[in-house]
Amino acid sequence: MATTLVGTPVNRVDGHKKVTGTAQYAAEVVLGNMTHAVLVGSSVAGGEILNIRVNEAESAPGVLLVLTHENVDPLGKMPEDLQAGGTTAEKRPPFSDARILHNGQYVAMVVAETLEQARHAASLIKIEYKAARFAVSIEDAPGTKYHPAHFMGEPLTFERGNVREALDAADVKIDVTYRSPSQHPCALEPHAAIASWSDESLTVYNASQWVQGDRAVLAGAFNLPADKVKVICPFTGGMFGSKGATGAHVLLAAIAAKRLRRPVKVVLSRPQVLTDVGHRSETIQRLQIGAKSDGTITALSHHVLAHTSLEDDFPEPATISSRMLYRVDNYRSEQELFRLNVMKPSWMRAPGEAPGQYALESALDELAEKLGIDPLDLRRRNHADINPQLGKPFSNKHLLECYDRGAERFGWSQRNPKPRSMRDGKFLLGWGMATATYPGYLMGATVKVRLQRDASGVQAILSTAGCEVGTGIYTMLTMTAADELGMPIERVSVQMGNSDFTHCAVAGGSNLTASTAPATKDACAAIKRELLKIAGRTADGFTGAEGREQEFLFARGRVAHRSDPSHAIAYEDLMNAGQREYLEGEGATQPIFGHNEEFAFQSFGAHFVEVKVKPEIGRVRVSRMTSVFDCGRILSAKTARSQFIGGLVFGIGAALLEELEYDRAHGQPANSDLASYLVPVHADVPEIDVSWIDAPDYNFNSMGCRGIGEIGITGVAAAIGNAVYHATGKRVRDLPITPDKLLNS
Ligand code: MOS
Repeated sequence: MATTLVGTPVNRVDGHKKVTGTAQYAAEVVLGNMTHAVLVGSSVAGGEILNIRVNEAESAPGVLLVLTHENVDPLGKMPEDLQAGGTTAEKRPPFSDARILHNGQYVAMVVAETLEQARHAASLIKIEYKAARFAVSIEDAPGTKYHPAHFMGEPLTFERGNVREALDAADVKIDVTYRSPSQHPCALEPHAAIASWSDESLTVYNASQWVQGDRAVLAGAFNLPADKVKVICPFTGGMFGSKGATGAHVLLAAIAAKRLRRPVKVVLSRPQVLTDVGHRSETIQRLQIGAKSDGTITALSHHVLAHTSLEDDFPEPATISSRMLYRVDNYRSEQELFRLNVMKPSWMRAPGEAPGQYALESALDELAEKLGIDPLDLRRRNHADINPQLGKPFSNKHLLECYDRGAERFGWSQRNPKPRSMRDGKFLLGWGMATATYPGYLMGATVKVRLQRDASGVQAILSTAGCEVGTGIYTMLTMTAADELGMPIERVSVQMGNSDFTHCAVAGGSNLTASTAPATKDACAAIKRELLKIAGRTADGFTGAEGREQEFLFARGRVAHRSDPSHAIAYEDLMNAGQREYLEGEGATQPIFGHNEEFAFQSFGAHFVEVKVKPEIGRVRVSRMTSVFDCGRILSAKTARSQFIGGLVFGIGAALLEELEYDRAHGQPANSDLASYLVPVHADVPEIDVSWIDAPDYNFNSMGCRGIGEIGITGVAAAIGNAVYHATGKRVRDLPITPDKLLNS
C-alpha cells in the first residue's frame, strides 16, 4: 500500500467550515420552540439553603419553569468514572438537597421563552442561607488531609528501594519545594447543552469530548436504555479535559426539557465555566534528590499536597512522571489531599504530568547547578533505558535524539552556565531546558467505513462516535482512509461526535488518534477484502483473487495486480458487477493504558527556551522556543505541529500567567473571567521551532502513532523557570513567575 498523504502537511479538511462559521457548535443549534435556561449559583461557599423564594421569578414575563432542590425530579444511578463508561462532573446529583458544598454551586435554574427573560427572572430569586465555615486554601483545611488510594489504577503512595539510606549516602543533595496554583482549562467555547425529548427518547446537543460518556450518564439519570438517548457534538470549541465529564447543567437541561416537553438550551456564563467546571488543583511539591558527584541520581522522593472537593476524590497525579522519567533505584512517591469547598477538580491537559514535571524538571536544574554539571548532560547521564517503575522496556524511545537535535537547533553549546552572564542590550538573557514526557494511551475505538456509489463514482464515509475537539482528527482519519483505500482525499469524508455511531472512548489522555487511526486502517482492510471477493467472482483476470490482498494494489480507486498494474478494475465497476450499493467494513482498537505485558509506551521530548528579562520591572518575555518530540509516527504534519504549539503555549501560560485565585473571604474564584484569568495572547508567544523524530511505534498500534495532544505542555513551565533563573539568578519556586516575585524574592 503506497502511503501518499500520511505524514504530509495536508490542510485541515474542516478548516473551511471553521473559518466560515458553518461548523456548528452545540450552542448554535436552533430547534423549533426552543426555551432558554439560566443557572443561579450559591453566593456562599458552605452551609445550606434555609429558604428559597421563587414566586416572583415564576411570575416574571416569559418564565416557564423554575427548578430548585424543592421541586427537582430525582435522578437514577449514573456512572462515575472512565472505566464505567461515563462520568458526572460531581458525585452529588444537582439540586439533590439543601446543602452548599462550594460557592457558585447551582441552586436554581430558570427556564423562559427568551434568554433575557430567564436572566431577568433569575435575578428575582431570593435565597436565605445558613452559612457554615469553609476552606478554599490548603492552609485553612488542615484537618482534612488524607492519602488518596490511586489515580486510574496507578498507586500514588509507595516506595521502591530505600530512599532514606540512599539520601544519607549521597554526595550531593537537594531538598526543594515548589508550588503550582489552581488553574483552569478555560476552553474558548463555554460549556453548553440543548436537551430535547420526543416521546420517551432524549436528544442532547452537548459541548463535549465524550458523547457516549454523556449518553451513559443521561441513560442512567433517566432510567433509559442507551438507544433512547442520543448525544451529538460534531465540533468542540476546546476542552483540555474539561468536557469529559457530564456537567450538572446537562442533566438540569434534560430535566427541564422533559418537564416542559420543549427543547431547553443552557449556556454557562464565563464565570460559571471557571467556577462550576473542574479546575486543576494547586500543588505543593517537595522533592528530595540525592546524587553521586558524577551526577548519577541515587535517590528521589516526591511528596505532593493537592486539594479535592468535599465529597469527591480527584488527586492531581503529580508523581506520575517522576517515578519513571530517570533511572533511579531508590524512589518514593507520596500524595496527600485536602478537602476544600470548591468544585471537584478535574482533568486538565496533562493531568499530573504538567505540574509534576514543573517540579521535577526545575529540581533537576537546581541539582545540575549544585553538581556543576550542564543540565542537559545531567539528564543524559540519568537516561532511563527501561521504564524503572514498570521494569519493562520502552516500546520505542528516542529521547536522546530529541536532546541532541534540540540542543543543536537551539545552540545550547553556546550557553554560559553562570546566571546573569548573558545579555541582549538592556535585557538579561536566560537559557533553560527540560525534558517532556507523556504516556501512550489507547482507550479503544471502533471505526466504520462505508464505500458507496454516487453520481460521481464511489465515496468513502467513515464514522465513529469520538469527538473532534480541535486536534485535527477529521483530517487525520480522512488522510488515513484515503491512503489505505487508495482514493483521492476529496472522495473521503468523516463523521464524528454522534453517540449512535460506533463505540469510541473519550477524546482525552491524548488517545483518540492513536485509537481511531489503526481502527480506520483495519476497517479499510475489510473493505479491500470485500472488493477482492467481488473481483474474484466477477472480474476478468481476477479469478481466485479473494483472500490474496498482498498480490494486489489499491490505488486511484482501482484494484490492480501488483505483477501487472495495468491490469486494473475500478471500485465502481466492481460494485456494479457485484450489484452492491455499498460495502461496509469495521475496525477496532483495544485499550492500552501506558503498558502491556511486554512494553511501556511513553512519548518524550526536549524543550529549550530563551527568555528576556527586563530587570527594572521583572518582566519576562519568552523570546525563543525549540522543542523536539518523540511521539511515534506523525500522521498529519500540519495539525500535529499545531497541537505541539498549542501545548507549548499552554506551558507559557502555566509558567508566567495562569492562576485561578480563590477569595478566602467568600470562597469564590476572584478572577473568574478572561480579563483577569490570564492566558497567553499572541504578544506572549514567540516564534516556535517544533520538530519531531517521526520513528513509528508499531509495538503500540498498526499505524505506529502515539498521542500528541498533551506532551507539548509537559516540562515547559520548568524550562521557562530554569531560563528565568539563568537570566536573573533568582529561583522562583512558585508559579506563575510574575514580576512581583522576581522583584521581591
Ligand atoms: Mo485531556 S486532560 O482530557 O485534555
